[in-house]
Amino acid sequence: MAHQLNNQGEVIGYRRDDVDPPYLWPDYMSTRTRAPKRPLIPLPHTLSEVTGPVLGHESVGALDNDLTRQHAGEPLGERIIVHGRVLDGDGRPVRNTLVELWQANAAGRYHHDVDRHPAPLDPNFSGAGRCATDDEGRYRFITIQPGAYPWRNHSNAWRARHVHLSLFGPAFATRLVTQMYFPGDPLFFQDPVFHSVRDEKHRNRMISQFDLDNTVEEWALAYRFDIVLRGRDSTPMEE
Ligand SMILES: [Fe+2]
Repeated sequence: MAHQLNNQGEVIGYRRDDVDPPYLWPDYMSTRTRAPKRPLIPLPHTLSEVTGPVLGHESVGALDNDLTRQHAGEPLGERIIVHGRVLDGDGRPVRNTLVELWQANAAGRYHHDVDRHPAPLDPNFSGAGRCATDDEGRYRFITIQPGAYPWRNHSNAWRARHVHLSLFGPAFATRLVTQMYFPGDPLFFQDPVFHSVRDEKHRNRMISQFDLDNTVEEWALAYRFDIVLRGRDSTPMEE
C-alpha cells in the first residue's frame, strides 16, 4: 500500500486529463441532456480509487472469452477473433486485468429489453464475454462480426459496427470504457459517437486492424486492437 502514499501519508491521485470525447457533443444528441452544465468539482482521490481490483484466476472461466460457445448451438454470423494488448501509459503490459466485451449480434440487435430494432435475436448469442489479460497484457475473444444498427439520433442514423469494451487499469480510477470499430466501415462519416473524439489521430485509435497473421485458416478472421490506459505515470499525450 505504501507506494500509493506520499511522504506525508497522503494518497497520490491520478492525473486528470481533458476528456476526448467531451461531455457535450451536440451532434450526439443524448449528450445535450446528460453533459454537466456547471464546471466539475474535483474530489481528492482516496485509497479505494488508487488501488485496483485483484482478480483471482478462478473468477474468470476458461470459456468466458468465447461468445460462440455459450449456448447449445453456434451463433449465426461471421466468426472473428478480437485480440490485442493492454498497456499502461508507459507501454508496460497491464497484467491480469479484467477485459469485458459486449456487442450486438450479426443482425445488429442487442439481447436487451430496450433494443427495439426489428432485427432477429439469435438464441445462440447473448453478446457478452470477459477475460483476464496474461503476463504480456494480452487478451483474446472469439465472437461474431456485429451488425450495424439504426438509432434515433438523427434522421436515418446508423451506428458504425462496433464492440464495447470495459477495462480496469491498475486502479478503479483508471477504468476505461471504449468502443472498438472495424477498418473501412462505410458508416463512419455519419456516426457522431465516433466523431465525438475530436482529434483524428486519437479517433483512429478506436479502429481495429485486420490481422491476417492471427486468422485461423478455414475457421475465423482476426482483428487486433491494442489499448493504452492512462494513469498516474502516463506520459502526456501529444495531440
Ligand atoms: Fe453499441
